[in-house]
Amino acid sequence: MKTVFSGIQPTGKVHLGNFLGAIKNWVYLSEQDNKNFFCVVDLHSITTHPDPQELNSNIGNTLKLLIAAGINLENSIIYAQSKVPQHAYLSWILSSFSQVGELQRMTQYKEKADTLGSHAGIFTYPVLMASDILIHKANEVPVGDDQTQHLELTRNIAERFNNNYGEIFPLPAKSSGKSGARLMSLKHPDKKMSKSSDDINGTIYFDDDKDTIMKKFKSSVTDSSDNIQYDLIEKKGISNLIDIYASINDVSHEEVEKTFKNSQYGEFKMAVGESVSEYLTPINLKFIELEKENISEIINSNLQEAQSSAESTVQEVNNILGL
Ligand code: AMP
Ligand code: TRP
Repeated sequence: MKTVFSGIQPTGKVHLGNFLGAIKNWVYLSEQDNKNFFCVVDLHSITTHPDPQELNSNIGNTLKLLIAAGINLENSIIYAQSKVPQHAYLSWILSSFSQVGELQRMTQYKEKADTLGSHAGIFTYPVLMASDILIHKANEVPVGDDQTQHLELTRNIAERFNNNYGEIFPLPAKSSGKSGARLMSLKHPDKKMSKSSDDINGTIYFDDDKDTIMKKFKSSVTDSSDNIQYDLIEKKGISNLIDIYASINDVSHEEVEKTFKNSQYGEFKMAVGESVSEYLTPINLKFIELEKENISEIINSNLQEAQSSAESTVQEVNNILGL
């Protein structure tokens, strides 16, 4: 049986990119015969110095949103990273198997250093991420394309550790869907869709109502032709819409092109908006329901399982290292 691990930061509001790049695949994997860990990586969020009250409420809401999205809790464990201190412990150990040069090459580090200022937290962020994955000995990591480099680094770190101490960690593979792995802003199709609030019209948030969703798609940036064709160089905007439609409806880019061969951009934008709204609305309704519920029992039992899995890896690593 495969072990799957993935994480999401409780910073800002969860958006369509998070869903199509990650959470939709988590739901799929939770329906298969896997052991899954889906983690709200709150320690990673500390790198952005969030407001404590806001962070606290985002952690709880993100856990509820994972349940609302339909993750099957029979074979999946959801928990907050900071409640399992073994993550941070293993991260310290793994830092001695991480090269300064390779951390400096991380694209996200360079981007974040520009916006957040270059503190050590954003520099060692990928080591903590490697620790998240390796603490449960995960084989598969379902993430969006922006995490490819961090996954490669994780494998390098695991391999270095294994070369010194034996085959302790499996080398985890990245997984993502054929579409939806890199959603772009609807307003700036050369920029990734992101949680940052300076692009609210380019981002679809999980709790946007149908009107808002339709408005955002209607005003999405495309090009001056009227040809629904997937072309990442000349037609970034329309390609992004094709990708969104393909991901939600589980069809290929070619099938979308065929279906909308005789449609105009206006019509197609509405069809994409409808699909997105049909996908997000039930999740949002379930979330609103869960907001009122006390889920502490589920959270506590999940947490215990996460702690015991993490602790057994820490014990093994401690023994091997002579600690
Ligand atoms: P984050 O919000 O950075 O914690 O990301 C959580 C997950 O969503 C990760 O697997 C990311 O790769 C994925 N993700 C974030 N933004 C996008 C996007 N624009 N398109 C696809 N996946 C994304
Ligand atoms: N760095 C990831 C992101 O920004 C979040 C993350 C932290 C993660 N630890 C992880 C994703 C472990 C997958 C596995 O999206």
